[in-house]
Amino acid sequence: MTALDTSSIVAVIGAGAMGAGIAQVAAQAGHRVWLFDTHQGAAAQAISGIDRQLARLVDKGQLDASQRRVIAARLQPADSLQALADAALVIEAIVENLDLKRQLFEQLESICSAHCILASNTSSLSLTRLAAGLKHPQRILGMHFFNPAPLMALVEIVSGLASDPQLAARLYDTADAWGKQPVHTRSTPGFIVNRVARPFYAESLRLLQEGAADCATLDALLRDAGGFRMGAFELTDLIGHDVNYAVTCSVFDAYHGDMRFQPSLVQKELVDAGHLGRKSGRGFYDYSETAERPQPQEISSPLHIDSCAVEGDLGIAAPLITRLQQAGVQVTQRAGSGVIRVGTATLALSDGRLASQRAQAQGIDNLLLFDLALDYRRAARIAISCAADTSVLACQQVVALLQRAGFKVSLLSDTPALAVLRTVAMLANEAADALLHGVASAADIDLAMCAGVNYPLGPLAWADAIGPQRLLTTLDNLQAAYAEPRYRPSLLLRRRATEGRHLHDT
Ligand code: NAI
Repeated sequence: MTALDTSSIVAVIGAGAMGAGIAQVAAQAGHRVWLFDTHQGAAAQAISGIDRQLARLVDKGQLDASQRRVIAARLQPADSLQALADAALVIEAIVENLDLKRQLFEQLESICSAHCILASNTSSLSLTRLAAGLKHPQRILGMHFFNPAPLMALVEIVSGLASDPQLAARLYDTADAWGKQPVHTRSTPGFIVNRVARPFYAESLRLLQEGAADCATLDALLRDAGGFRMGAFELTDLIGHDVNYAVTCSVFDAYHGDMRFQPSLVQKELVDAGHLGRKSGRGFYDYSETAERPQPQEISSPLHIDSCAVEGDLGIAAPLITRLQQAGVQVTQRAGSGVIRVGTATLALSDGRLASQRAQAQGIDNLLLFDLALDYRRAARIAISCAADTSVLACQQVVALLQRAGFKVSLLSDTPALAVLRTVAMLANEAADALLHGVASAADIDLAMCAGVNYPLGPLAWADAIGPQRLLTTLDNLQAAYAEPRYRPSLLLRRRATEGRHLHDT
């Protein structure tokens, strides 16, 4: 264990939302903390704010009053950078501006001891660039906390080209000792979370743009079938469209305009209109007091279904069989290509093709497709789509079957890979590329997405559960449908699928 000893002094520069949160975390972990801000009185004000947060913890019974006093006494405002000379670790959390951060590090080099680690909380700037030209670039690292720092577990420990791996290990152990969930990442644009999460927003935005469904339905599908805490529209309304759009633009630019990260015109229009989300009272949803929250679209069937046949292996959707049986449906199982036959309808898990395309290619009448669910035993909702010549009766038969098993059913337009499968396929694809490019380990990528943005399952573990081959087929079909590089499968996914190995295999 190489964590900083609690007798070491930590300095935090920038007493805004992040700096104050980080100072609180370090003080609660036992360190004396200097807090410095160029804005007169900001550090002292932030310390008062932290004390109020601590008081709330006392009220909730999570801290006793004497601990509160001890922790508060560890925090001190600094009136100059020179006062930080005795710090063993400096974490800067000033404005996101490369030149200002570089100037600050240059000053710190002449103030702090040679052993002091200089960390940045930047979420988008290159650590390699921040360190370039400094006297000791090896001690510049990223320590990327998430907002609010006292509550969010994840800390990305970011190494630039010159960063010393031993110092990265020390920061990792320090974050761990502070009760955080650290991961190691190389300094590539977006690090892990802000890169791998891009498709979560992008695919919903595209589905909306294409009229596949409305916001409320797509959000409900990501929540009720995908197991995500929030759908992309409610989440971006919460984050703020200005902030979320700026992150997407910054990642897009940093990857030299790679179309996988292309910002959405739908979101840009909201930003242009000043509809920034909750904070402006309006985003995808209207937050005014009188506004009614739109409900997800749902279809129902007047039919009653008693039986169906499952032909072949349903793969990740196999738990549907038990759910149908438990609902009283008589399920006959026989050999076949992984489809469910109900009445005149054939129901299959999407493979990334349009339903109409697949019906034609396989010569299937009355084809319907269903979407991915995190857990088919428990999902409250499922999306389906129909081929163009699927009859109303076949559609009603499928809806009746799924309703009988307790699903709410949302009908999407005929869309490649539907909503959850498309989102998860693209998240997993981005995660596979990050792994291929050595940004982080498979374990750290999955951990970052679960601890940093609360995904119900790491994207690589999800890819393994779906099966790399099935995922690859989905992405190949998506790419064929759109003829765009955005959906090109990661080489690592193709390699693992070809080798019959999983993404988590070493
Ligand atoms: P903020 O705007 O709330 O606070 C920045 C503070 O830095 C202000 O109090 C300002 O007076 C002070 N400051 C500016 N220049 C300074 C300088 N040269 N020396 C000392 N103090 C200076 O910003 P926020 O949101 O706390 O972000 C800070 C950093 O953390 C940025 O790099 C940002 O990208 C990063 N970050 C922000 C997250 C967020 O959700 N807000 C999440 C993770 C990282």
